[in-house]
Amino acid sequence: MRHRIAVIPGDGIGKEVLPEGIRVLEAAGRRFGVEFEWTHFDWSCEVYARTGRMMPEDGLTQLRRFEAIYLGAVGFPGVPDHVSLWGLLIPIRREFQQYVNLRPVRLLRGVRSPLAGRGPADIDMLIVRENNEGEYSEIGGRLYRDTPHELAVQQAVFTRRGCDRVIRYAFELAKKRPRRHVTSATKSNGIIHSMPYWDERFAAMAKHYPDVKTSQYHIDILTAHFVQHPDWFDVVVASNLFGDILSDLGPAIAGSIGIAPGGNINPEKEYPSMFEPVHGSAPDIAGKGIANPIAQIWTGAAAPRRPRRWARPSRRCSDGRSAAGRGEGPICGSAAGPFSAPRLS
Ligand code: IPM
Ligand code: MN
Repeated sequence: MRHRIAVIPGDGIGKEVLPEGIRVLEAAGRRFGVEFEWTHFDWSCEVYARTGRMMPEDGLTQLRRFEAIYLGAVGFPGVPDHVSLWGLLIPIRREFQQYVNLRPVRLLRGVRSPLAGRGPADIDMLIVRENNEGEYSEIGGRLYRDTPHELAVQQAVFTRRGCDRVIRYAFELAKKRPRRHVTSATKSNGIIHSMPYWDERFAAMAKHYPDVKTSQYHIDILTAHFVQHPDWFDVVVASNLFGDILSDLGPAIAGSIGIAPGGNINPEKEYPSMFEPVHGSAPDIAGKGIANPIAQIWTGAAAPRRPRRWARPSRRCSDGRSAAGRGEGPICGSAAGPFSAPRLS
């Protein structure tokens, strides 16, 4: 079977780690009889500087015909973040209804957690982040610019369809996992309209899944629990902003945001899904040849598979990744040891 994948290396270390992801997928493909056809798009901040656009006007139409999109990272100093992200990453997530941002967090064997005394059995969760609406909205504006009355309004949007579909996805995932537990991130004590609504939709969905245990915490204490009790969490569902924050904190407790994979998923497969590591373009280390490609590789493991299976990786895959963490085995840093060399042996 031949998979047609659109490749957008993007900016910064995206350009360095993405070729490694392709190399590993090619090698895996040869071994397991899977073929890929890669089509490269050079859309990036560099192109923006030349053309004034992050992607061509018909960029989304060009991407639509692919099975999946394999993305490195977007954003680089010189182009304001809201211009680069709203010109490329966010329109893809939205127009292609990639309403689930699935970010597995696992402490791999051989990687040390910054939390004392924690091992792989303690940190193994899936963060399900709402990816199309919530706090990330274009509704709002500014008034009375440059006067003492200046104001900015940013409108969060929570729709029934938007909440239900992502919460349902979280329950469906949890139902197939041994612990069968979904935790919802909320803040309904301080945010008076949207978060009580989110809680209501969570409770309504829970009724359809009597075999799945549920918990709910306000986002503030939830961040503390991630640090103090990471073993309490199995599937965590959160709004766009809360999920964004949790999906940096999760990988941090699992050793490094540099190895965390992610998928922007359109579960109905009406549109291509997009697979991108959680780390960004990391301008501070870009161009030095020291970026760790493990996140990109792990992310790539999802592209030709069903995301739900990717979230429960095969033993062969997880052994490989764990070996990478130890600096030995089938995929490992080739020169100065694990996590230091972008080229893998
Ligand atoms: C992420 C990133 C993006 C987000 C930024 C770059 C807009 O932080 O993918 O987590 O907030 O979605
Ligand atoms: Mn983020």
